[in-house]
Parts: sequence; structure tokens; C-alpha cells
Amino acid sequence: MAKRATAYVCQSCGAVAAKWAGRCDSCGEWNTLVEERSGSGVGGSPTVASRKRGRVVPLVGLSGESEAPARVETRVGELDRVTGGGFVRGSALLVGGDPGIGKSTLLIQAAARVARLGHRAIYISGEEAIDQVRLRAARLGLSDAPVGLAAETSVEDILATLTDGPAPALVIIDSIQTLWSEMVESPPGTVTQVRASAQALVRYAKSSGATVILVGHVTKDGQIAGPRVVEHMVDAVLYFEGDGAHQYRILRSVKNRFGATDEIGVFEMTDKGLAEVANPSALFLGERSGRTPGSAVFAGLEGTRPLLIEIQALVAPSPLGTPRRAVIGWDSARLSMILAVLEARCGVRFAQNDVYLNVAGGLRVSETGADLAVAAALISSLSGVALPADCVYFGEVSLSGAVRAVSQAQSRLKEARKLGFTSAFVPEANAGDADGDQVTGLSELTDLVARIAASSTGADRPADAEG
Ligand code: TYD
Ligand code: MG
Repeated sequence: MAKRATAYVCQSCGAVAAKWAGRCDSCGEWNTLVEERSGSGVGGSPTVASRKRGRVVPLVGLSGESEAPARVETRVGELDRVTGGGFVRGSALLVGGDPGIGKSTLLIQAAARVARLGHRAIYISGEEAIDQVRLRAARLGLSDAPVGLAAETSVEDILATLTDGPAPALVIIDSIQTLWSEMVESPPGTVTQVRASAQALVRYAKSSGATVILVGHVTKDGQIAGPRVVEHMVDAVLYFEGDGAHQYRILRSVKNRFGATDEIGVFEMTDKGLAEVANPSALFLGERSGRTPGSAVFAGLEGTRPLLIEIQALVAPSPLGTPRRAVIGWDSARLSMILAVLEARCGVRFAQNDVYLNVAGGLRVSETGADLAVAAALISSLSGVALPADCVYFGEVSLSGAVRAVSQAQSRLKEARKLGFTSAFVPEANAGDADGDQVTGLSELTDLVARIAASSTGADRPADAEG
């Protein structure tokens, strides 16, 4: 039977449908199905004709001699930390992020570093002309670095260029959405093209021993193919995040076959490009004013690195029938849960109030260990009692109102001590790990409410605040 020549591919999730529909069955997005021809070629499936009897491959045991993968270090501490100690030779990485966040800047800096350390580095720009890239390099003071530069979008031409001459150590493709392969009949930017181009480059990385970094844009409306389809093919996925209002950027590993995930690197965007931030906690707490109600410092963990983060809450009387709940930098469902636990288990009422929660510095916190700090900030704002300025909080809150243990309490407390915090509220089960500090173990969320209420008799309580 003849194979279907065309298929409808969702540009958002990559699902394939046999006939067109207004809404993708798989991800639920509207107007994302686009007709694409499924050809053979670079990314196509093997045709019936090429199907032959396979060769027998030897099976081996799970134990055996294996060397640590060879790596190319950039000696940029924050970048090497995220990759797990440098780029692994023969691997492919995807660097995703919003347009304008600084992906091209980061990668031209990385390419220049690697080139200056004596390796061959190639930067292929599909988005910017040679002059634009040169202009940026000049601005960053990198013009003298021996990076091979080309502006090209054809996968076949790029592969021919890369295989010509000695094998490079690092190849940067900026961006995967601009590439197109002649072997596939879809326009550039479609899932089929992105997938085919990525597959060809991943194969090149494996066969040549070069590290290939693919840049991918993430768009909110999903109009051009997101790099999601590529995530499965590559060895590591890094996301470059940050917001327009702040100068710092966070490189986060969400997948890494050769190192830890959830590892972050912190950079600051300066007029000379991206600079490493050696002490991010100090940066995130930099603008904190100690004595305002509603601010709590969370001793968090990002990957293997402890990080202190300010959680800000504002609880204000609401003029609305249904009060507003707005969250930036944390999960809004999690906020609803903490509010419900405070209401049901601790008798603290938020029903007449708008609640706003913000993670200072534009950071995104996904750890459940932030529950206790969020609760402390909420109670503090509601009661108008400022929390002690030298105190950190961490602990997970369960629906029953119990405070549960979190991992690596010691390294969290160590980071807090390093930055001058002298006391901590932690889960009871973690309190035993502490040595020397004024560490208070909590087993129930009501204990926290009671302690904050007790401190409200102190001098710092504003006259108009209600208990
Ligand atoms: P860019 O690397 O082009 O972003 P992306 O490749 O992710 O789209 O960076 C764009 C922004 O970075 C741009 O708005 C200007 C800013 N920038 C600086 O602030 N300092 C610099 O030295 C450079 C090169 C860029
Ligand atoms: Mg760019």
C-alpha cells in the first residue's frame, strides 16, 4: 500500500494527524495544524525499499570499563557549572530562550573563549548578517578571537563546510528555526524542517566528535515550531531566562545526559556582554529593605547550589466580590493551596483580601520547600508585622498543615550564615541537622502563625494593623 504523501503536523507539539482539524487533539492548541509532506531525506522515515535484513549487534553487560566523557571547558565558571564541567565532545545541546534574552551574546562569548583556548570554534548565524555578528564581537572585545564565522541557512551547505578541514571542537548554530534542508519539502521554521535539520546536525556531532549547540526560540503563541520537538534528540537542554526589568540572566539545565539537571548559572548583562555573577544570593537580596511586612527570605536550592531568595507578599482589603490572587515567579495553584491551609488549619482569614505574591528579582521558584517562606510572608503582610530581618525560612507544607522536611537543610543554612542570617525557621525533622544557629524547628504551620503573632507585641507593630 502506498504511504500517505502528506500529513498534518501540529506546530506546537509536533503531533501528526491524518486530516486537518481546527484544534490539535494532542495538545489542545487552536490553528496549529499545518499540511506537511512527509518525504524521505535527512529527517524522513526509512522507505520500504531501504528495509533489509539487519546486522547482529553484540550485547554487553551493564558493568565494564568506561571513561569519563571528554569535555571542552570554557573556563567560564557559571557556564561550565550548568553543562556539568564543560561541553562534552560529540554531544548536541539546545539553548532555548525568548528573543532578545542574550542567547547570541552568550554563545559568541563561549565560542571566543573556546577558540582562545586553542580549539577550533565555528559560529554559524542564520539570523544575522556577518556584519552584525562582527559588530557585536567588536563591542564585546572579541574581534581577535579565532572563531570561524559564516552566515548560512542551508543544512547541506553547513554540513559540507563543517566537514571541510580539521574537525571543530565547538559548532554553534544560531538558530535552528532558520535552517532548511533541501531534502524536506516544508518551509523553514516548520516542525518537519526543524526536526530534519536538528537530526542531521545531531548525527554530525556524534560522528565528528564536535559539540554542536543549537539555539532555539521559544515563542508564546507557538506560531513557529518551538524547540520542543528537538528536546528529545539532544543530549542537554539549557534554558536562558530573565526578564526585561533586570540585568541578570539565568542559564538553567532542564535535561543533561552528562551532568545534574536543575543546575543554574547566573550572569549579568552589561555593556560588555554577559558577566558571571559569583555570589547570586547577594544579588537577589541586594535591594531588600529589612523592616517591611510581607517580606520573607527563602533559603532555596537550585540544582546543587543553595540560593537565598526574597519572597514578597501583599495582602490588601479587596473591593471585589471575588478577591484577586496574582502570582509572579511561583505556582498560582500552590499559592491557593497555602491560602487554603492557612484558612482551614490555622484560622487565618484571607477571604476579604486581595493577595499578591512576588519572587523578587524576576526569579522563578519551583521548589515546594518555599511553602513555609510564602506562608510567613502572607501572615506577615496580613498582620502588618515585619519578620526579623536576619531570619530565613524553608519547609514544605502539606494539606494537613504539617511542615515537612526538605533535602539539604545544612547547605541551605550554611549559605544563610555566609550572608549574615543568624536565625532560621525550618521543619522539625530538619532542625536536628543544624549546628549552633538559632534554628527553630516547626512541625505544624500553626506554630509559625503563633510565633509571628507573639512577635507582634513588639515595638515594630504599626498602630493601625489588625491581628
Ligand atoms: P541577543 O544575544 O541578540 O539575544 P538573542 O540572541 O537571545 O535574541 O541579545 C540581545 C540583547 O542584549 C539586546 O537587547 C542588547 C543586549 N546587549 C547588552 O545589553 N549588552 C551587550 O554587550 C550586548 C551584545 C547585547
Ligand atoms: Mg540571537
